[in-house]
Amino acid sequence: MDPIGTRKEYGAGDPGDGPVDPAAFDPDPLRQFEVWFATALGAGLVEPHAMALATADRNGRPSVRMVLLKRFAADGFVFCTNYESQKGLELEENPAASLLFFWDRLERQVRISGGVARTSDLESTAHWNARPRASRIGALASAQSRSVSSRDQLLAAVASLELRHPGEEVPRPETWGGYRVTPTEYEFWQGRRDRLHDRVRYRLEGGVWARERLAP
Ligand SMILES: Cc1cc2nc3c(=O)[nH]c(=O)nc-3n(C[C@H](O)[C@H](O)[C@H](O)COP(=O)(O)O)c2cc1C
Repeated sequence: MDPIGTRKEYGAGDPGDGPVDPAAFDPDPLRQFEVWFATALGAGLVEPHAMALATADRNGRPSVRMVLLKRFAADGFVFCTNYESQKGLELEENPAASLLFFWDRLERQVRISGGVARTSDLESTAHWNARPRASRIGALASAQSRSVSSRDQLLAAVASLELRHPGEEVPRPETWGGYRVTPTEYEFWQGRRDRLHDRVRYRLEGGVWARERLAP
């Protein structure tokens, strides 16, 4: 298959907001993210809070997968997962990550990088309790990222957990919880004509956010 025939022209008047001026961006990248995220939420996208999460093991070997953003605030960006999954093991040995949002209809991407730490038990439990019961049972049944002999084996584990936890109460296992990425760098990207895209990078320098335009 030849993917080249699918070439798309950016900035051709479709939903993106057009030119981006770094000087007009908020000095605080979190505030700027809030503005773009609100636009993404209003754009009818399927999962605007879905983001690629890149991690690396202790030897620097990278891996990437999608996760869902659970919350963001001044202290960072939170997602939830199994602490013993591949990403979990990598984050334990190399607590750094990069996040990427791609909002295709807006012709925008946002990249966020920083250090990573587990959320508190209290916060993880709050995220756990916000999940529908079936998702909690599913997460309990799944030793995420480890080999499983068949789908039937997974369904049998779900059935036995359903019996063990017949009510609404399904306790959070210690192996499931949140991670918080505390940004030290953001990049906002807006697609423009002729591949002359706009890029604005923020970097934390001595406790202050510096921003600059990058070549596309
Ligand atoms: C849109 C989307 C959202 C996802 N959200 C999550 C999530 O929030 N947490 C999670 O553990 N896995 C999520 N997954 C599954 C992960 O991409 C991945 O398959 C899983 O976490 C195992 O990754 P690992 O083996 O690299 O640890 C999501 C997948 C997709 C496609």
